Amino acid sequence: MKHVTVLLNEAIAYLNIKKDGIYIDATLGGAGHSNLILKKLESGFLYAFDQDLAAIKIASEKLSKYQNKKIIHANFINITQELEKFNIKEVDGILLDLGMSSFQIDDKKRGFSYLVDTNLDMRMNQNNNLTASDIVNNYKLDDLTKIFYEYGEEKNSYKIAREIIKKRPILSTKMLVDICDKINYNRKGHSAKKIFQALRIEVNDEINVLKEALKKALDILKPGGRIVVITFHSLEDKIVKHFFKDNAIIKMPKNMPIIKNIIPKLKFITKKPIYPTEEEIINNSRSKSAKMRVAQKN
Ligand SMILES: C[S@@+](CC[C@H](N)C(=O)[O-])C[C@H]1O[C@@H](n2cnc3c(N)ncnc32)[C@H](O)[C@@H]1O
Repeated sequence: MKHVTVLLNEAIAYLNIKKDGIYIDATLGGAGHSNLILKKLESGFLYAFDQDLAAIKIASEKLSKYQNKKIIHANFINITQELEKFNIKEVDGILLDLGMSSFQIDDKKRGFSYLVDTNLDMRMNQNNNLTASDIVNNYKLDDLTKIFYEYGEEKNSYKIAREIIKKRPILSTKMLVDICDKINYNRKGHSAKKIFQALRIEVNDEINVLKEALKKALDILKPGGRIVVITFHSLEDKIVKHFFKDNAIIKMPKNMPIIKNIIPKLKFITKKPIYPTEEEIINNSRSKSAKMRVAQKN
């Protein structure tokens, strides 16, 4: 159940920690990154967010010896409002290590894994209402097809959505996996992998949350402050890549006279993503799909 932190040293090196700086770990999880940030801080302070109470509990124990931190149970989309409660308007660096902690995936009751037969839940914040079961059992054919296609990049989205509707009520992860097995019988990877990814993204509204959070992160960064983002699938990576590009490159309409001294909001620190080393992937197979991008506020 232990979470092994991905790109630990690389992410912290790119954050460029100042001993007296204020830092945000937006995805506390098992606190691997937070722990290393705190080791590097002296008079500085860390605000760490997680929307999952299991993560808050595990991380609070791990970081108990540090006084210069505040652990916040909240969605990182609310970063600005949460920091305002502590009168913080600007920070020196922000880390987002997206996705899930291993203890969430491995917790049999949470329904994130297609390898375990349990309830269709998939909520990262268990105080939220919408579950995977609500989606699978209530969404219309078009809506189910759309989320499977857009969030799972599943080419058999329509067939799987139609089969789900035929077999309703879908009462367990196993019933959903059986449907995926039937439709994706000749798939090389797991037949339900893409469908589970799509449902998790929809349950937790991950795409909208990421887009909004990136804007807020840019607003609260001090000039010279860095934003480090680790993603685990191409949809998330595309959002980060475009956000950095849109804010690092000033696009002028053709034929417009070139105006000097317009400074973009961001500059790239990494032009290409950083990947885990082969050694890291051998030691932690869950790091395999990770990509890290870094930008700095001008
Ligand atoms: C990959 S883990 C982070 C692991 C952490 N960096 C470490 O070193 O252990 C991602 C964590 O982010 C949390 N999370 C994901 N989306 C979130 C959101 N929108 N708001 C707050 N926490 C979120 C998850 O609950 C999970 O615990």
